[in-house]
Amino acid sequence: MEIQEALLNRRSIRKYKNKKISKEEIDKILKAAMYAPSAMNLQPWQFIVVDDKDVLIETIKSIPYAEMLKQSAAAILVCGDAGVEKNESWLLQNCSASTQNILLSAYGLGIGSCWIGIQGMDDIVRNIKLQFNLPDNIVPFSLVSLGYPAEEVKVEERFKKEKIHFNKW
Ligand SMILES: Cc1cc2nc3c(=O)[nH]c(=O)nc-3n(C[C@H](O)[C@H](O)[C@H](O)COP(=O)(O)O)c2cc1C
Repeated sequence: MEIQEALLNRRSIRKYKNKKISKEEIDKILKAAMYAPSAMNLQPWQFIVVDDKDVLIETIKSIPYAEMLKQSAAAILVCGDAGVEKNESWLLQNCSASTQNILLSAYGLGIGSCWIGIQGMDDIVRNIKLQFNLPDNIVPFSLVSLGYPAEEVKVEERFKKEKIHFNKW
């Protein structure tokens, strides 16, 4: 798949078919996640693959706005290791790049995904740390729901010339 095609046509998918995602496909997605850029190439990420239906449903108690997990085949919890990357801003930027790689890799495999925000919401962070028994140094960043798409999402034109500046503001 051409990279520009994936960048322009990937959409958040929140409705999924009742179809499992193979371990091989999940591994490909995780590999893409681990090839994201990271400051000083520290790769300070950790991932929890959630592929148990009961755990997916339980996660809705931790993140009440993550209703799409009812239908999703799996989800990946992207975490940062604050013991590896001590600069918090960089830790979060690294996790963000890794999360985007997950979305694009899934799209390339015909799998729908949605980025569910965790970082920045103290209650949700606390719930997720408790639910997944995360050690103190592990910061939950995002959760990505995954599943074969059961919806098609169109998008408005996003290219806006007025957002582009040359050489100065
Ligand atoms: C930091 C971040 C947090 C997000 N959190 C949620 C969320 O909690 N629930 C949700 O349905 N979508 C969430 N999204 C997805 C956005 O709603 C979506 O990317 C945006 O509407 C643009 O649509 P697109 O992904 O189809 O291009 C999040 C996206 C980002 C980058």
